[in-house]
Amino acid sequence: VTNIRFPSVLREAHKLVGERVRPGDCVIDATMGNGNDTLVLARSVGMTGHVYGFDIQVQALEQTRERLLREAVDMEQVILNVESHENMEKVVPAYWHGHVSAVMFNLGYLPGGEPGVITLVESTLRALDVAIRLLRSGGIITIVVYPGHPGGDREAMAVDHWAAQLQQDAYQAITYRFVNQSGVHAQPYLVAVYKI
Ligand SMILES: C[S@@+](CC[C@H](N)C(=O)[O-])C[C@H]1O[C@@H](n2cnc3c(N)ncnc32)[C@H](O)[C@@H]1O
Repeated sequence: VTNIRFPSVLREAHKLVGERVRPGDCVIDATMGNGNDTLVLARSVGMTGHVYGFDIQVQALEQTRERLLREAVDMEQVILNVESHENMEKVVPAYWHGHVSAVMFNLGYLPGGEPGVITLVESTLRALDVAIRLLRSGGIITIVVYPGHPGGDREAMAVDHWAAQLQQDAYQAITYRFVNQSGVHAQPYLVAVYKI
């Protein structure tokens, strides 16, 4: 008997990334927050890989650094930046442009942090356009969106629209979403883009 529930939205993002990232790769966490995605990325690329993390809050950088240290991640491979993700191209060395294997976005606000500091449609869309330029063929972008908070619904729609207009011969774009949960329109869901 199999008893395998569908993974949570966050877990599914980690699975899709984990399947496509190899030791030694260069990857990006566009929204560090508490560092959960940074940790998964750091483990996937290993000691020979590189992780670039971004957040506009110092608190997020500190929490992420502490998280990684607690988990005994080699910090030499991880470069954490207090910088908006729309500027990631200026931080990631030109050597890696077009060779990044994963970029993870987890939008909205930092749990336990300042609820007023949220990702915003315009900068999110700019960052997605930059991320897709940095990506290698065979690379993946994951975006977890939160339509349940004020402004989050507009942002989720903008991300859907951005993904839907990507050329189908160059990209695959999907959503992963639970459709029968209570308050379904407020539940987070995943948008993922694969570069062919
Ligand atoms: C939902 S949290 C991320 C959660 C994180 N992935 C985790 O696993 O804990 C969203 C984060 O995006 C950050 N953020 C907001 N605007 C940003 C921007 N323009 N560039 C980078 N990070 C931003 C917030 O400060 C917040 O920490």
